[in-house]
Amino acid sequence: MSYHQPVLLQESVDALAIKPGGIYVDVTFGGGGHSALILQQLQGKGQLYSFDQDTDAEMQSEKLISDNFTFVKANFRYLKKYLRLYGARQVDGILADLGVSSHQFNTAERGFSTRFDGPLDMRMDKDSPLSAKEVVNTYEEEQLHKIFGLYGEVKNAKTLAREVVSARNIKEIDTIADFKQAIAGCTPKGKENKYLAQVFQALRIEVNDELKALEEMLEQAVEVLKPGGRLSVISYHSLEDRLVKNYISKGKFFGEVEKDFFGNEIKPLDSVTRKPIVPSDQELQENNRSRSAKLRVAEKRETPESLKK
Ligand SMILES: C[S@@+](CC[C@H](N)C(=O)[O-])C[C@H]1O[C@@H](n2cnc3c(N)ncnc32)[C@H](O)[C@@H]1O
Repeated sequence: MSYHQPVLLQESVDALAIKPGGIYVDVTFGGGGHSALILQQLQGKGQLYSFDQDTDAEMQSEKLISDNFTFVKANFRYLKKYLRLYGARQVDGILADLGVSSHQFNTAERGFSTRFDGPLDMRMDKDSPLSAKEVVNTYEEEQLHKIFGLYGEVKNAKTLAREVVSARNIKEIDTIADFKQAIAGCTPKGKENKYLAQVFQALRIEVNDELKALEEMLEQAVEVLKPGGRLSVISYHSLEDRLVKNYISKGKFFGEVEKDFFGNEIKPLDSVTRKPIVPSDQELQENNRSRSAKLRVAEKRETPESLKK
C-alpha cells in the first residue's frame, strides 16, 4: 500500500464483471493493487497479464506469486504484440489505471514532483532515451510552446517557452531546481503550485508520449477483447479522459461517429455507465490522489453477422 494506494479499486475491478477462468489484462500494474483484486476474483482459475514499463513496478510484481499471474515489463502500446507472444489472442477484460504511481511521484530521483529537487527525468521507463532534461534543453522554442499549451493548458505557454530557451542559452538546465529558477520570471505569484503542476504535466506527457500510447492501447484493446468483454479505464486529467470518452462513444478520438446505410452507429464499444464513475466522499477523504480520477467502462460489441467472414 505504501507503493501506491489504489484508486476506485472495487468500482473499476467490479466493472470487469470477472468470470473465474477468464483471461484479463491490467495494463498499468504499478503497485499491483488492482491486479491483486482481479486475481482474487479469478479464484485460482484463468489468467491475468499485467503490464508496466517501470522496473520498479516489475520488482513489486515479484511479490505477487500465483500460477494465474504473468507480469509483462512493457509499454501498453504493445499490448497486442505481447499478448500474442503469450498465446492470449482474445481476452475477457482490460483494466487501465493511467498516469504515474505514488511511488514514482514520491521518489525524488524520478523527477516527477515539483516538491523536491532532483534530476529533470520524468521517464516511467528508465530505459527510454527521452528525459525531461532532453526536452527542455533541445526542443525548438516552437515545440516547447506547443507542448506547454496543448499538454499543460498553460496560459502563457509562448512566454514560458521563450524563457526556457533564453535560460538554457546561458547554462544547461540540469535539475528541477534549475528549471524552476529558469521559469521563475513567468511563474504567477501566489499560484506557483498550480502553474508548476501544469508545466510538469506537459513535460511528463511529452516524455512518455502518454496520449499517443493511450490511443494505441485503446485501438488494440478493442481488437483483443472478446465480444461482451469489458474495458475499465481510470484517467486523471481531461486530455486523457477526452480520448477515452470519445473512443468509447464514437469509436474515434476526434470527429463524429460513423453510421452505416441504415443510420446504425459503426463503433466497437458500448458505454456501460452513462456518466464517468468518480471516487466516493470517503475515498476522497482518505486519498487525496483520487480527486481527479474518472472511471469509464465499456463493453465490446458483438460483431454484426454482416461483418463476419
Ligand atoms: C496509477 S499507476 C497504477 C497503480 C495500480 N493500479 C495500483 O493499484 O497499484 C500507473 C502505472 O502505470 C504505468 N504506466 C503508465 N503508462 C504506461 C504505459 N504506456 N505502458 C506501461 N505502463 C505504463 C506506470 O509506470 C505506473 O506504474
